[in-house]
Amino acid sequence: MSFDVTAIRKQFPVLKREIHGHTLAYLDNAASAQKPQAVIDAMVDCFENSYANVHRGLHTMANETTEKFEQARGRVAEFLGAAEANEIVFTKGATEALNLVAYGLMGEIEAGDEIIISQMEHHSNIVPWHFLREHFGAVLKWVPVLDDGSLDLDAYGALFSKRTKIVSLTHMSNVLGTINPLKRMAKTAHEHGCLFVVDGAQAAVHFPVDVLDIDADFYVMTGHKLYGPTGIGALYGKRECLERLRPFQGGGEMIEDVFEDRITYAEIPHKFEAGTPPIVEAIGFGAAIKWLSAQDRTAIEAHEMMLYNRALAGLREINSFRLIGDAPDKGAVLSFGLEGAHAHDIAQILDRYGIAVRAGQHCAQPLMERFNVHSTSRASFGIYNTVDEVDRLIAGVKKARTFLS
Ligand SMILES: Cc1ncc(COP(=O)(O)O)c(C=O)c1O
Repeated sequence: MSFDVTAIRKQFPVLKREIHGHTLAYLDNAASAQKPQAVIDAMVDCFENSYANVHRGLHTMANETTEKFEQARGRVAEFLGAAEANEIVFTKGATEALNLVAYGLMGEIEAGDEIIISQMEHHSNIVPWHFLREHFGAVLKWVPVLDDGSLDLDAYGALFSKRTKIVSLTHMSNVLGTINPLKRMAKTAHEHGCLFVVDGAQAAVHFPVDVLDIDADFYVMTGHKLYGPTGIGALYGKRECLERLRPFQGGGEMIEDVFEDRITYAEIPHKFEAGTPPIVEAIGFGAAIKWLSAQDRTAIEAHEMMLYNRALAGLREINSFRLIGDAPDKGAVLSFGLEGAHAHDIAQILDRYGIAVRAGQHCAQPLMERFNVHSTSRASFGIYNTVDEVDRLIAGVKKARTFLS
């Protein structure tokens, strides 16, 4: 298989857009990625030709829509290497999936039970566990981040006690780009009898994931970062782990029977999918996975890292440049600061040149504190980015440096 960025770009209609008279250089992919025509077409086709509610119908369009919806579930399962499609629950995104797990486990948490998370987590993998702290007296224990942006694995091993119940970690940091050695971390967690939860919101986009190889009990992902639509994500859980969770929301579709004095729940995954699901979004998500899976993922990863390395080399020429996150194993996310310049100002100046980057805390306040910064600027690379866009980024940041001196 080969990789042709020009051919890829032609499939993303929005990339033709001009911003302030410049061709868009979209380098905010870690926040949300743009959508290829294949995803747009799949969603429009559903609306235009065969749309109905799922799982309820005895009519043709309901059956067609249900088939496509369940086909999308199958695609997610295959994409993650799950043992069966029923181990995939559709959610609104990674955030809802992590909340679902935390909520589902609340019956198992008693005061003093411990949950291990890390300093590099996105708020969506922090706040749901704080809820268990607030309501049930769980204790949060934090894996420290080393200066290069990798996790302190010795400290991780030392955090476990007889009270540790859950470990929940990101596969790839949205700020540092660090890719964590989850296989060995899961092994340690399981040796201590803990559940191992993974936030794969960033990782699933950039390299193939195998949940069985990691031995993750739960793995979450989100559609909109993976060239799919918003409003859809997925929770993978081993069958026995999903069966162990209490349902997250109540309503139609998630029950087997409802009586005046009792209810019985549907089987997994439907037990966790109360109400009408995001049908068209799930179909779009399935189309995104199909589209991405058809690309040469090894070549994409190499392309993204080539862009990252070029950007880093160029930006390092700026004397007040500070890279946040330089772990040996990392993906194409470049967070940085310029001494004396506010990240928001840098992003706004870049926008004037048509370059879209992120600036702020990136929903990772404990990490900002760890690196003693208020915010960072972040360029994050995706499948359609080019060398020319990287060179424009370097030139743009150099100009920002001049303006903000
Ligand atoms: C590492 C990580 N986890 C979780 C999320 C939350 O994803 P969503 O907002 O799609 O639920 C994000 C989004 O930025 C993320 O980067």
